[in-house]
Order: sequence, then structure tokens, then C-alpha cells
Amino acid sequence: MQGRVKSPVRVRLDRLVKMRDFEPVDLERLLARGQEIFEGQPAQQFQGAVATVFYENSTRTRNSFQQAGRRLGLDALQVGREGSSIQKGETLEDTLHTLRALGAVIAAVRTPEPGALEELPDVGMPLVNAGDGWRQHPTQALADLLAVRLAGREIAGARLMIVGDILHSRVARSAADGFAMLGAEVWLAGPPTLLPPGLAQALGARQVALEDGLRAADLIMVLRLQQERMERGYLPSLGEYRREWGLTAERLALLREDAMVLHPGPQNRGVELDADVIRDPRSLIHRQIACGVAMRAALMEAMLDAR
Ligand code: CP
Repeated sequence: MQGRVKSPVRVRLDRLVKMRDFEPVDLERLLARGQEIFEGQPAQQFQGAVATVFYENSTRTRNSFQQAGRRLGLDALQVGREGSSIQKGETLEDTLHTLRALGAVIAAVRTPEPGALEELPDVGMPLVNAGDGWRQHPTQALADLLAVRLAGREIAGARLMIVGDILHSRVARSAADGFAMLGAEVWLAGPPTLLPPGLAQALGARQVALEDGLRAADLIMVLRLQQERMERGYLPSLGEYRREWGLTAERLALLREDAMVLHPGPQNRGVELDADVIRDPRSLIHRQIACGVAMRAALMEAMLDAR
């Protein structure tokens, strides 16, 4: 470490697996720090590299970890399933040790296996879950919380409705935890195959009817259909899904003037939402992506500073 600025956040985490790894007070401090970084305050500088190890595809998360690393003076090392020694049978643990030996001081890992990071022994550097199957995507929730806050909305007391493929969504689980930890009320809506009985309760949320929720919610988070995690039989067709559950231009008219729309991306235009929604002034979709860089920088700064 060589920088001038000390992180004001004390997140004593060697490994961030899920939103509930934070105390609410850490989350508040981290959001405040993310806002400072978003607004251009310098970040603490470190030596070494951030490694991104992604066993699944990504545009936003992988690039934003790399951009966030640049804010901290870190180089970037990148490993994907394709084109790496993962194809030759190298394990995640050995891949991380290799990257550590190449100069990585922190790593972000995305895997299709829920809980993969929890099972790993210590690899000599902090690890961040960048999405583990259907289970958690904590840095997406950090980005979403900051996007809402920067748009001027109090999270405490807000009503967040998450719509769509809840069953397969790590984003829904992390958002439900993160928003609830800061005092929001979480509502869920989706087809019975993708929001089966008991799931809303298990996530500490309330199930609501789609159009009632659209009229009343402060924040509407639309989820991508995770077709890569679905076997056959969840949905009659994508067209039927759009008709029954999509945030179409017609349904957009139900939203309050001061409502805000979120989507973690990537969006399937014409399936879970129409292009009009992305262009609507109430959409925070592009702001969420920019906030992802600031929050990942704030998180990595705190994790590295705490070592
Ligand atoms: N939201 C999200 O995780 O996007 P990517 O898959 O593009 O990283």
C-alpha cells in the first residue's frame, strides 16, 4: 500500500460471499465511500493486480472489477473458462494460487456452483463473490443500492418490487438482503414456476400481484430470465412470458411518476422488458453499471486496507 487516502470503511472481510456478511453499519459506510469515489475522490493506491476468474460469461461485472482496480492502482489479470488452463483440469484453488504468484492481491470469482467460494481454503488474498450460480451476487446489490441513493431515494422505507425469474436469480437474493438490511420493504412477483410457494417467505419478502405492485412500488427491479439455468417446462414461451410478466410499454404507464426502474443486465429486450423502459427517464439501468465500478473500488479498497 502506498496511497495518501485511507479507506474510511472498516470491512474486516477476507472473503465476501453474501450480503449478510456485512453488518448494516458496514453497508452504510461502504455506500458513503462508494459515493465519494463515484464523485471523483481519489482512492487509496495499492500495488499488484486484481484477478477476475470467471467460469461464466460477463460484460458488466468483469469489466467493472478491472475498472475499479485501476482506480486503486491495480493491474488486471483475467482468467475465463475458455482459453485458460481450467480447460486442462486446473482447479479453482490452483488457479487462484497461480494468479497470486503472478501478482494478484485480490480476486473476483464467478462460478455456476452455489457456495463455491465458501468451500475454498485460504488462497493468501481476499476473494469476492462475483456471482455463484443462483445464490448471491453481492457486488450487484452494492451497485443497485448506490444507484438508488444517488437518484435521491431513501432506501429505508422504500418499497422494492423484484419481478420475474426469482427462482434462478442470485441478483434477487442479494438485492432482497441488501435492501432489507437498510430498511426497505421487499416485494416479489413472478410466475408460479419461477416464484414457487414459500420462496418469498424464505427470502424475507412478500409476494404481490404484478400490476398492484407496479402501481405502488417505489423501486421496480426487473430480472433477466436465466434461461441457461432452466430445464424445459418453466414457461410456455418467451412471448407468453412477455405478455404475462414483461414490463411492456403499456405496463410502464402504471408506474408512479417518481418510481425508479432497475435491471441488473444483460437485458433481453422484448422479453422481460421493452426498449421503451430502458429509455424511460425513470430507468436507472445505465447508472447501476457506473455505480458498480465505484462500489467495487470502495469494497476492494476496504478489503485490502484491512489486511
Ligand atoms: N449484472 C451482471 O452480473 O452482468 P454481467 O453478467 O454482464 O456481469
